[in-house]
Amino acid sequence: MSEGYEVAILGATGAVGTRLIQQLEQSTIPVSKIKLLASSRSAGKKLQFKGEDVIVEEAKPESFEGVDIVLASAGGSVSKKLLPEAVKRGAVCVDNTSAFRMDPDVPLVVPEVNEKALYNHHGIIANPNCSTIQMMVALEPIRKVFGLKQIIVSTYQAASGAGQSALNELYSEAQDYLDGKEMSADIFPTKGDKEHYPLAFNLLPQIDVLEDNLYSHEEWKMIHETKKIMLGDMNDPKIKVTATCVRVPVPISHGESIYIEVEDKENATVDAIRKLIDEAPGAVLQDDPEHQVYPQPINATGSRDTFVGRIRPDLENKGSFNMWVVSDNLLKGAAWNTVQIAERLVADDLVEVK
Ligand code: A2P
Repeated sequence: MSEGYEVAILGATGAVGTRLIQQLEQSTIPVSKIKLLASSRSAGKKLQFKGEDVIVEEAKPESFEGVDIVLASAGGSVSKKLLPEAVKRGAVCVDNTSAFRMDPDVPLVVPEVNEKALYNHHGIIANPNCSTIQMMVALEPIRKVFGLKQIIVSTYQAASGAGQSALNELYSEAQDYLDGKEMSADIFPTKGDKEHYPLAFNLLPQIDVLEDNLYSHEEWKMIHETKKIMLGDMNDPKIKVTATCVRVPVPISHGESIYIEVEDKENATVDAIRKLIDEAPGAVLQDDPEHQVYPQPINATGSRDTFVGRIRPDLENKGSFNMWVVSDNLLKGAAWNTVQIAERLVADDLVEVK
């Protein structure tokens, strides 16, 4: 056993990348050397890892020489181009982008749900979409005991899910609005699309591009990632899933209104579901209507946990329930889940040290 692993963070200067550094600092992974990689724009910039200055380098195929673990969050096209180069050089990559999520050879992992899928990796492991992850943490304990027939989810997604520049755009729009100026929008709802709309003091029912099937790509991801994580097949009809994804002018932490129909309609009760959530790894029950206690983005931000509350029965359909789920999209939705996967890979001896 060597003294530790050489780890590279790809996209180290971004909203998720900076949190990857922080989560890695706090993790159980012994790090012998760290490489911080970004675009040529950031080359030479200084960041810190465990109190030491580290110079950011431009990411190139050769950057991965000698690297054991890559944590990537620099966008799908960058992952598509560079992660196969890292794998060629013997690294194991945990990718936070959607580039490889639907590849049948790539495990899509939320450790609380399907950690065992890591044993089938071929060098790349995909971190699911932020909205999918928090929904999995909340629903897996219920699925295991009562089964799930259907999930209907509406998301209230924070601006930071679109990256640091999008978050900056929200702040400047808000300032312009308060100063009585016209708001200008260049990023939301999604950078690559034709039209752009302000997010400040607004709601945008479009996350990622709108597809020919009338769903946004984010909604498509929630549907198919859920099936791949819970059932092992992105098209498995056993659990019916539908989604509406909405961007809200909240900086960090996504909210989700989730409606479920369970299989075991006789035994599932609000009290039983509350108990399951209370005991579930990674989930925290915040459900006390008498004292107005329920999850809120402001309180979830900075935590690795997923908060669940407002659990209540559908009054007209036995065996169906509503709930409200909030988690920090940059931590459990991205950086923490990525580092947590890497911790499991190390603990289960699934990374070869060079
Ligand atoms: P840079 O800061 O140099 O642009 P966010 O998700 O917050 O927008 O961050 C995206 C991250 O991906 C940043 O660290 C950004 O670096 C990085 N990035 C963007 N394009 C590339 C590229 N072509 N090669 C490597 N890293 C990139």
